Amino acid sequence: MNTFLYYFTFAYLAVAALGQRIAIGAPVEWSTVQPGQNITVEVDRPMTLSSSQEVAIVIGFWSCNGHPCADMDVTEVMGQVVYSGPYNPKLQQGQEAEKPPYQNFTVTVPIQLPDGEASLNVAHFSLIGFQCTKAGLEPFLEVANITLNVQS
Ligand SMILES: *[C@@H]1O[C@H](CO)[C@@H](O)[C@H](O)[C@H]1NC(C)=O
Ligand SMILES: *[C@@H]1O[C@H](CO)[C@@H](O)[C@H](O)[C@H]1NC(C)=O
Ligand SMILES: *[C@@H]1O[C@H](CO)[C@@H](O)[C@H](O)[C@H]1NC(C)=O
Repeated sequence: MNTFLYYFTFAYLAVAALGQRIAIGAPVEWSTVQPGQNITVEVDRPMTLSSSQEVAIVIGFWSCNGHPCADMDVTEVMGQVVYSGPYNPKLQQGQEAEKPPYQNFTVTVPIQLPDGEASLNVAHFSLIGFQCTKAGLEPFLEVANITLNVQS
């Protein structure tokens, strides 16, 4: 394979992947939540130049077991899964200027989640590719997280 093309493609995909990163728009980091409470998780997808195809997201709560979540590597675990399914971010009418496309999910904080810090994890799976063709779609997986305070 042409080396230049290879590196160009790689760099392009890396940039496209960065532009593709989701963000947790709500709740706000360090919010206090109660086990059993229903909360809105807003998952934002930034505008992107590359074509992409959404596949799915998974939302999970992982208790940091009395430790600060910052001391733990929570990116490899989802914890208790509260949503797993399609992701269809949309521009919301009246919010086009201030918000990227997003989707809200109502999830229930697991009833047996211990008090203390917990990580809210959102795994996002999509296919990204070039604007001009869908032939070069590449799988892309990422995990976003924020820390919440659980108080029963
Ligand atoms: C949370 O949502 C579930 C499913 O929509 C509903 O059955 C339940 O009554 C809600 N619980 C509270 C505390 O609002
Ligand atoms: C959460 O995500 C950040 C990147 O935004 C990462 O640096 C961190 O290790 C992850 N884990 C925790 C517990 O914050
Ligand atoms: C989605 O949830 C956020 C945070 O609760 C809220 O500000 C926003 O208005 C909601 N959007 C829609 C379309 O319900």
